[in-house]
Amino acid sequence: MRLIFLGSPGAGKGTQAAVLRERHSVAHVSTGDILRDNVRGGTPLGKTAREYMDSGRLVPDDVIIAMMEERLAQADCKKGFILDGFPRTVPQAEALDVLLERLGIVVDAVVLFDVPDELVVERLTGRRVCGNCGAIFHAVFKKTSVPGICDLCGEEVVQRDDDSEEVVLKRLEVYKKQTTPLTGYYERKKTLVRVDAGQCGAKVVADIEKAVGRRNDIDQER
Ligand code: AP5
Repeated sequence: MRLIFLGSPGAGKGTQAAVLRERHSVAHVSTGDILRDNVRGGTPLGKTAREYMDSGRLVPDDVIIAMMEERLAQADCKKGFILDGFPRTVPQAEALDVLLERLGIVVDAVVLFDVPDELVVERLTGRRVCGNCGAIFHAVFKKTSVPGICDLCGEEVVQRDDDSEEVVLKRLEVYKKQTTPLTGYYERKKTLVRVDAGQCGAKVVADIEKAVGRRNDIDQER
């Protein structure tokens, strides 16, 4: 399974990728998670990325492309991957095409998570993430069993710095301007499939698996 997840902030890309990673034993490659690890580690990449992330803007393309060239060459990606949050601009998509061609990899599908803006704000302002293992929860939709404590590893769950309403609205604006052109880009390549990401998580996962299966059938018939 080799998928690209496309969709607005809070569409559920990270949540559904975590489920599919377990079910299909593939790498979940989240650019946001890699950047946050670097911010926490105080690396030069993290120092560059921080001001962009905190204000809801995109980290420059050259920084992201170099980071992803390195990540996709790692051994765990050989079994398959889900790219979550990359590409996010047309130059990133073009660079990814070149990289995949060089590595001899064909992507099964680009999955577009369709979700209304109102739901995005509700999901992100209520999101809680584990500071240790990265598990994703929600104050209303997916509560931890013990308030404030991760169900998986027992560490504290926190709100992401960029999940305030003000930054969420900025991220949505940036998404519409810089990332939505990728819908047309992948439609023209006939690799785009759409899922209704406003449904419950189990239904979203089932729809992704069904849509990817249909696309693979079409490819085999060609
Ligand atoms: P990143 O971490 O990638 O953030 P994002 O794309 O804004 O996506 P999110 O992680 O906010 O949302 P998600 O779709 O994964 O939703 P989730 O599953 O958590 O990027 C952060 C920043 O890094 C960017 O702003 C940018 O600065 C930088 N960056 C990253 N990649 C970059 C790139 N390629 N180029 C340049 N800069 C880059 O779900 C959200 C909440 O909803 C959770 O609480 C969850 O429990 C809940 N939920 C999910 N699904 C459902 C459901 N079906 N029903 C009910 N609740 C649900």
